[in-house]
Amino acid sequence: MEIEATLISEAEIQRRVREIGQQISEDYANREPVLVCVLKGAAVFFADLFRALSVPVRCEFIQLASYDDGTESSGQVRVVQGLNGNLRNADVVVVEDIVDTGHTLRTLMAEIEALEPASVKVCSLLDKPTRRVVATNIDYVGFEIPDTFVVGYGLDYAQKYRNLREIYHIKM
Ligand code: XMP
Ligand code: MG
Repeated sequence: MEIEATLISEAEIQRRVREIGQQISEDYANREPVLVCVLKGAAVFFADLFRALSVPVRCEFIQLASYDDGTESSGQVRVVQGLNGNLRNADVVVVEDIVDTGHTLRTLMAEIEALEPASVKVCSLLDKPTRRVVATNIDYVGFEIPDTFVVGYGLDYAQKYRNLREIYHIKM
């Protein structure tokens, strides 16, 4: 396994994060959304997006796991660390790194909806639409990407490469 080529540059990522931040700020004007960070992959995107918002905002964290250090979803999603904060009547924006098969997002939505928020929207940095198994709606998408495994900017292969500033293809 080796890092192959840059798919999305640091400048492109930063420009798009600013755009999404402005869009969410407009859509939630006069409201106080709660951004839910899905650990670990979304942590880097979350930190940038959170600071790109110009409306008052709260944050919560949830950790899910589906991949056993490989590149294929097992379809089994585990809640490693649940939500502790109160989301009742909140306007929630779920922040994901990537939506692939959609299994993770389905589990996530069930966890969040059980807490009776007023509304839930989904923001994902990356979307691999050709891989979808579970139908899902994503309200804010950073970039659509082809069916290729990517790392960097929070995304890992076997827990490595999360700290890279760009998003790269990897060659298996
Ligand atoms: P599902 O299939 O549940 O997958 O929609 C979502 C989760 O799978 C991981 N994932 C990736 N991680 N590079 C990664 O580093 C990828 O190309 C990739 N595709 C899916 C990711 O953890 C995401 O939350
Ligand atoms: Mg992962």
